[in-house]
Amino acid sequence: MGLLSRKASCNSHGQDSSYFLGWQEYEKNPYHQLHNPKGIIQMGLAENQLSFDLLEAWLAKNPDAAECKRDGQFIFRELALFQDYHGLPAFKTALVDFMAEIRGNRVTFDPNHIVLTAGATSANETIMFCVAEQRDAFLLPTPYYPGFDRDLKWRTGAEILPIHCTSSNRFQITASAIEEAYRQAQKQKLRVKGILITNPSNPLGTTITRAALDLLINFISDKEIHLISDEIYSGTVFSSPGFVSIMEVLKDRNLEKTQVWERVHVVYSLSKDLGLPGFRVGAIYSNDPTVVAAATKMSSFGLVSSQTQYLLSVLLSDKKFRNYYIAKNQKRLQKRQRKLVSGLDKASIGCLESNAGLFCWVDMRHLLRSNTFEAEMELWERIVYDVKLNISPGSSCHCSEPGWFRRLKSFVNSKSHQELKSLRNGPHRIQKWISRLFQSFHDQR
Ligand SMILES: Cc1ncc(COP(=O)(O)O)c(C=O)c1O
Repeated sequence: MGLLSRKASCNSHGQDSSYFLGWQEYEKNPYHQLHNPKGIIQMGLAENQLSFDLLEAWLAKNPDAAECKRDGQFIFRELALFQDYHGLPAFKTALVDFMAEIRGNRVTFDPNHIVLTAGATSANETIMFCVAEQRDAFLLPTPYYPGFDRDLKWRTGAEILPIHCTSSNRFQITASAIEEAYRQAQKQKLRVKGILITNPSNPLGTTITRAALDLLINFISDKEIHLISDEIYSGTVFSSPGFVSIMEVLKDRNLEKTQVWERVHVVYSLSKDLGLPGFRVGAIYSNDPTVVAAATKMSSFGLVSSQTQYLLSVLLSDKKFRNYYIAKNQKRLQKRQRKLVSGLDKASIGCLESNAGLFCWVDMRHLLRSNTFEAEMELWERIVYDVKLNISPGSSCHCSEPGWFRRLKSFVNSKSHQELKSLRNGPHRIQKWISRLFQSFHDQR
């Protein structure tokens, strides 16, 4: 008999996927400008350190927020004892205002419908726990964030079935792809409880069109299932077409207060838009009071500390600052995206045109030895071990076409020397390596 439970020791964590293996390789040999200039550059972790200077400047001007003070008076004891799992009302109000603003105030959010969680990871697991039984299935458009295999399935016992999207229409969701995924679930005798989308998409860096959102609403109405929209990148949209939240579509179609309205849930977090994954601040927004009540009880397992809630309630209540931050961060993201795309272009590598997020979906199909996932892994190993860049292969995101890779836009503190160096190194290393690769193909012929 093993010491660990079957649940703890099974492989549902997904630790063996190339997504996590790349991290492990990076940790063994991390790049450092002085101590390890030939080390691996980390481009596989969706971190946004691009606007830390703005947050640091705000903290310097508003020291009370981090020092547990209100109007110069210590509120340490109040925060140390706070344990209401409904969360600090001031924080929930500031958070929903921020969420509305990111959506151009075209929709509003009620703070009583929000449940705070330790990041979007916990939000996604909690909502899944609330709406799915073991072996119930959720349909997810591919390619999708590799962490979902762990977050949605491991402890809940739920299943994920892919909605296969392809490069032929820029990986947009189609009615036939949804129908096909649903049929596959039925074939496997799985009950489909819902669809989960990421808008804007990780790894594509694109927003979902209104037409596709309409399709999804029609489908969940027809099948009487849930729709979870992970909108963790909603504040990162830097060019048109703009971001359309699923909540806007419901409102525009006058579906508020209907049964469909109650089956749509939004997941959010401050890990990407504010670049604070270490603070562990996430949320579920649901129109169904029973889901809100169940998720609130569940949230006891992953609460956000009162100190963090207090600090962020002050920060997000500063309307002028939050607007400035979001606009500036989006401009910086756009600048990075242009730089990366043109660097890759010089190396004859194309990308899916993107308008959001922290990454590019890079097309390296022409560099594969054959049109197979084995060839993709072979190429990925060469990129990690020879070029020393950790990027995520499309297969780790369940992409159905070999040869696509997710690459971060090199997000290190914009002021650091190391960033300038790795920024220069990223495309430069690729260019050098590609010419070597072409040379070796040529030599073999
Ligand atoms: C689509 C998506 N959802 C959830 C998460 C997890 O975010 P958090 O750090 O808030 O748990 C990530 C992180 O990369 C993500 O890309």
